[in-house]
Formats: sequence, structure tokens, C-alpha cells
Amino acid sequence: MLKKTGKNYSGLCPFHAEKDPSFTVSPTKQIFHCFGCNTGGNVFNFLIKHDGLSFPEAVRLLGRRYGIEVPTRKMSPAMRAQISEREKLLAINRIAMAYYHWNLKHETFGKAARAYLQNRSLTAEMIDAFQLGYARDTWDGLRNYLQIKRVPANLLEKSGLVIPRKSGSGFYDRFRERLIFPIYNPNKQVVGFGGRVLDTSLPKYLNSPETPVYSKSKNLYGLHLARNRCRETGTLFIVEGYLDLIRMHCHDLKNAGATLGTALTSEHIDIIKGFAEKVVLVFDGDDAGIQASLRSVGIFIEKGMEARVMVLPTGHDPDSFLQKHGRESFLKAAEKSRSIIMFILEFAQKKFGHSVDGKLRVLDELKYPLASIKDRIALDSYIKEVGEHLGVKEYQITEKVQQALKEMDQSRRSQTRSRPKGTDDQKRDESKLKAGENALGTPLELQILAMMIQFPQILPEILENRVVDYFTTEPLKSIGELILSQKNKTDTGISNLISIVDDDEKRNILASLSIKEEQWNLRDCRKIITKFIQTSPLRPSISLTEQIRAAEKENNEALLIKLLEEKHRLAVADEQQKHIE
Ligand code: CTP
Ligand code: MN
Repeated sequence: MLKKTGKNYSGLCPFHAEKDPSFTVSPTKQIFHCFGCNTGGNVFNFLIKHDGLSFPEAVRLLGRRYGIEVPTRKMSPAMRAQISEREKLLAINRIAMAYYHWNLKHETFGKAARAYLQNRSLTAEMIDAFQLGYARDTWDGLRNYLQIKRVPANLLEKSGLVIPRKSGSGFYDRFRERLIFPIYNPNKQVVGFGGRVLDTSLPKYLNSPETPVYSKSKNLYGLHLARNRCRETGTLFIVEGYLDLIRMHCHDLKNAGATLGTALTSEHIDIIKGFAEKVVLVFDGDDAGIQASLRSVGIFIEKGMEARVMVLPTGHDPDSFLQKHGRESFLKAAEKSRSIIMFILEFAQKKFGHSVDGKLRVLDELKYPLASIKDRIALDSYIKEVGEHLGVKEYQITEKVQQALKEMDQSRRSQTRSRPKGTDDQKRDESKLKAGENALGTPLELQILAMMIQFPQILPEILENRVVDYFTTEPLKSIGELILSQKNKTDTGISNLISIVDDDEKRNILASLSIKEEQWNLRDCRKIITKFIQTSPLRPSISLTEQIRAAEKENNEALLIKLLEEKHRLAVADEQQKHIE
């Protein structure tokens, strides 16, 4: 809920986890900005980020909401096709979910599946909360139903719910005789399904394939119900399975998501960052499980997200643990969870033992994860902790880490060399880095941009003094140019300006600079401009006389004195020169 604060509204940010509100909406400027995570933009950017819509979808949604006919003619045919395909596939998934759910609840059709669920202590409440369903033992139950609903054949196949027959034509149902778990995205759209057998046959689980609306590397099961509890606790539990996740809910542990048997990807982490500042990875207690999990923990270090590892007793998964020991024991174990580094260390120690040679091999396992920690302070404290635990001197660890850094750097270089030069990704990475560094390092440029946005009366003088030409950092310079290029348009509201920006970073900067309410006046603006030009490394060397005149005009006494002294010194030197001649 947003609260009115002065001209603006503020509240908890939907794009990152926070306890104090730093998300601000300006109704007059029609933009939003979060002072916490620096996300900002106009209403379209909001819908795209918050609801996962594509740009055309966002346009159409708003159009529908306000009864404005959005000219789809103006979209490219490819764009139009893309939205309508996504919308249709989501609609098909809803139909399928309802069908499966109806079957599960059906007196006779759903009997065995309901018995199975009851046997696993899953209540009707959970069946409803997760809209569980049942796919009957038929080859064409869902296919027929979708055909009655007039779903065209090409979409039928794209939905992943049916499979084309190898011989001849037509399709058959992918899920048969399985308990069905609809998979939602955080916007509560049904994007895919998982299906579990009711007995011990294999494969135990079958999942939707990758479709235009479902990607297993981007979705975590249960996240659509996790938002509020993540807010309250700042933590997200990550478990592995469908039933683990549902069991967490049975014990009122709703701040959880399940990876569904795949490794965590950096896309997962990006999504998780919007939910919690910290994750607890809950791993099954068997060695095979831990071995597999080891591979996916490094990603948290790389992405700079705090993660702890909680290993359950051997033979337990969260489902069985919670059923046997309950919520309090689970939370107690969570409190004892270790950092990823300590987790890797303990696991390696088990493998290599405590001999001198063993310790070296443990360090060899640890050096890469340590080397990918970007936060200097965090790295130092980990090195200390590892040193204490292993009984190894800190400098020895530091040496290993440096060695790993060198190796990583070399392998990165050889990769860049073998890759075609300047691929898009690479360029984007480089420009991002530069922009990030410089944007922070040049408050004057930011101040001038803020002035240009909030006090447009100054624009003629900015143009006249070619202020933007002195900007040395991207993307600030191009934002400055953009503002100037829009100067004479009648419609230069900030929201409109934002709408012509094609880049997330620039949009965030624009929103952040415009949401503040600063008081500007011509005098102060001119002062800032002069100071900026005078200190610019790009300033052409202007004559001393001109500088003196400028300092006079500005009443900059200190500078004036310095310049006059300089003038005097030069004049004296000149005189002396003359005498010598
Ligand atoms: N999984 C999968 N395909 C498989 C096996 C597993 O997609 N063939 C995924 C499922 O999302 C499953 C998770 O990996 O939930 C964990 O697998 P597992 O531990 O074997 O299953 P549980 O979730 O514990 O299911 P159950 O308790 O019903 O055995
Ligand atoms: Mn299980």
C-alpha cells in the first residue's frame, strides 16, 4: 500500500526486499523511483518489470483499462503475434489447470489421487491453495477438452501439454495418470506444469518442456505465494521439490521457492533479489544431493547475494523433516546454517581429511569460490574464518586466492580472444561497468542533469555554453543530449522523456533525478555550470584575461585573487624578459 507523503506517494518497493519504504511514486510527473534499489521509470516500465509484460502487452493493458483503443496496427506484425501467442498460451494453461483440478475433485476420477495425497498428509486446503490436479489414465482427455474449447492445433503443440504422434497425425496428452502441480510465475500466471506418478514407476516427475511462457531456469515453484512473508523476514528458503515446498506451507513457512530439480541459474538469482536479501538453501542430507548442490552454490557468490546452506540429517528432505520434527526444529536448524564458503570447506574436509596434504587440497577447492567474492570486506572475513578453521595462516590463503584470480583472468582473456571481438554482451558489460563507476564519480554531471530536468528554464544557457559537451561519462552525456534534443517539443513531461529511452540504466537515472524536489534558481544554476566548466578536463585553455573577467562576474574572490597573482607573475616575468633583450 502506498502512503501519501507530500506531493508523492511512498511505500515498500515491489522490486527488492525492504522493511522501510523507499519506493516513491510521483502522480504529477507520472513516474516511480526506488531509492533503495534504484529502479525507476514510467507506468509502462512498471508493468513490464512488475508484471512481466512485454512492452506491447503493457500498452494494451493500459489501453484496455482506460478504454483507449491502442492501434495495434502500429506494432510490427512480429510483436503483435508474440503478445497474442503469449496471452493465448497462458489462457490455455488456465483451462488445463481447471480441467486437471476438476478431475482431482471428481468423485470417481480423482479417487486414487486424492487417496495418495491424503496418504502423504496433504489437506484439501493445500489442494486448493496450489490448485493441484489429476491427469487421468487416458491418451486424449485434455486434448479433447482443449479441442472442444477450440484451441488451434499449432498452439496445442506449443503449450507443451500435448505431444505430436510419431506415426500419422494428431496429438496425445503429455501428462497421464499423474498428480498435477501447476507452476505459476510471480504474477500468478500459470506458465507450466509438473506431474508426479502415484506409484513407484519412472520417471517419477514429468515437467512441461520449455515453451514461450515457461522456462525452468527462470521459475521457482511457489514464489507467487512467497512475497509477503519474504518481506517480513527478509529471507527466502530454497528447497528442491514440489512436495517440499507444499510441506513448508503446511508449517506456515511460506517464504520459500523450489528449484524443481534443476541447478540455480543467474536468472533465478535476479528474480530472487526482488524477494529477499538473503536465502537459505535447504539441502537433502545425502552425499549425492550435496554433491549436486555444490555446483549451484557458486552462483550466489558470483552474484553477490548472501546465501546460507542448511543440510538436513541424512535421509531427510524438507518434507520428511518437517513431518517428523516440525516447524521449530526446522527453524532452529536454519539458524545454525553456514555460509556457502564454510559449507564447501566442511564438505571438502570430509573428502580430503585433515592431513597437511588434505588441507592443501581443501584450499584448492576453496580458492575459486573465494576468488569470485567481489566484496573486499566479505572476502577478508572469509579468509580469516577459513584460516581459523583449517589452522592455516591467512597469507597462505590470500596467496591461493591471488593465484586463482590470475588463472581466472587468464582463462577469461583467452576466451575473449577466441570470441568474435565486441559481441553485444561484452559491449554491454563494458559500458555498464564504465557507467556505473563514472556515474558515481561525477556528482556535478548528475547535478546538472537534475537541473536540466527539474528546471528547464536553464536549458537555453546549457545549450549556449555547450555544457553537455563537457560531460565525460556515459550514459550521462547521452541523457543530457536527449534532454536537449527534446527541448522544443511541447510534450516534454518526464514520463514522456522516459518513454523514448530504450535502456534500463538510463531510465533509472532519469527517474531518480526527477523524483527529487529540489529548489532551483538561475543564480545557483549558473554557479554550478561555471564551476563544472572550469573544472572540466575538456575545458579549452582560455586566456587569463577571460578567466579573470569570468571570476569577476561570478564574484569568485578567491579565484580572482589567484588569477590576478598569476597575471602579476606573468607580467613581471615579461618585464624581465624585455630587460634581458
Ligand atoms: N524432479 C524432476 N524430475 C525427476 C525427478 C525429480 O523434475 N525425474 C524434480 C521435481 O521437481 C522434484 C524434485 O526434482 O520435486 C526433487 O526430486 P525428488 O527429491 O526425487 O522428489 P520429491 O520432491 O522429494 O518428491 P517425493 O517426495 O514425492 O518423492
Ligand atoms: Mn520428498
